[in-house]
Amino acid sequence: MTITLLPISFPPSLDPTRFGQFGREVKDVHPGHLNGGQFEELEKALYTHDLLLFRNLDLTPEEQYKLVKKFDPNSEHYGHGNRSLDKATESIIHSYVKSLPFVPQVQIIGHGTVQNHEGIEEITLKHGRHPEFHKTSLSTEDEAGGFTRFFRWHMDAALYDLAPPKVTALYGLKVPRGPLQTVRYGDGSRDELPVPLGTTAFVSGKIMFDILSDTMKSLAVRATATYAPHPFQWIKNSKAFSTGLGLVSEGLEMPLDLLPSWEEEKIKKYPFVWKNTTTGHLHLQVHPCAIKEIDIQPLKYLKNAKRNALYPQGGKITDLKAIRDLIHEMQRPGIAPQLVYPHAWEEKDLVLFNNRGLMHSVVGVFREGQVRLFHQCNLAASSEVVGPNEADIEKWA
Ligand SMILES: [Fe+2]
Repeated sequence: MTITLLPISFPPSLDPTRFGQFGREVKDVHPGHLNGGQFEELEKALYTHDLLLFRNLDLTPEEQYKLVKKFDPNSEHYGHGNRSLDKATESIIHSYVKSLPFVPQVQIIGHGTVQNHEGIEEITLKHGRHPEFHKTSLSTEDEAGGFTRFFRWHMDAALYDLAPPKVTALYGLKVPRGPLQTVRYGDGSRDELPVPLGTTAFVSGKIMFDILSDTMKSLAVRATATYAPHPFQWIKNSKAFSTGLGLVSEGLEMPLDLLPSWEEEKIKKYPFVWKNTTTGHLHLQVHPCAIKEIDIQPLKYLKNAKRNALYPQGGKITDLKAIRDLIHEMQRPGIAPQLVYPHAWEEKDLVLFNNRGLMHSVVGVFREGQVRLFHQCNLAASSEVVGPNEADIEKWA
């Protein structure tokens, strides 16, 4: 039996002309009980549409873990590493996720106090709220009036030792109801975006790449990011831009010799552009907070070289402010209000997304007593990301 794919509904804020292939709702099949051929269809649909939605689904943590593992059968551990997560109390990730005792690859995330859940007697969850992470904050009155911010744009990845997960599965068990909130970008742009309470906001790395200028595309296909060792401990004192897209540079990063021990071989270097091997599309996928250095290849195909190419002889950027300003310049157009898909969660929604093709952010603020409960699963991949090939570099550099 083939699976049924329907378009997902978009908010009026979104530019549908850019999102024709983005997102599908999967009907008439339970992702925990797929029969012959159905998984292959689902996998192809996921990498073709980047985000799949199942509505009104009952899904156990074991089913969720097994489903995610099917996309990468040789993967085993949670994307941030179960053991390292449990030990790394200093990491900024640790405050927001906790492992389920019986299925440690599935994390519990959300907001508020939950009792007697999957072997956990009581747990108090904390939804990321921008004043904990941003350099500036909205006023208390604005926040009470329904204004909010993107918390932190990212792909799910440890970016040290472990390879970025291929797929993330987010399953909503408790979704508090409330009026729309308004994301205020706060970067001098006047950009605002109405969002459902507690939305997860997604942007497409493909669109982010497609809308770059030729000059920036040329740089993107030649650039490699080096991420810091234990990046989420390295930046634990740093503060983010009001867009949630990268960090203000104030010299607050932890000196490398004060981090937990690390090995040079485990440091991650990834191309800025990741190739979707199902569609052949290029996606701009740079973690704007964790990046520490940029290496740029020289132009190789001089007859095709873009005019005004940046760094025609190649180069290396090590100044953090210069790195972050450049990444912000490249990524900011891709989070414009009309290019953000804010998912309107309903209870028992499962969203599966291509973690190597999208970026996402927690959004919103909950009132006292509002409880949000989600199960999240992603697994450190068994193989590394794929960058642009020679033909891509020849075409775009
Ligand atoms: Fe995430």
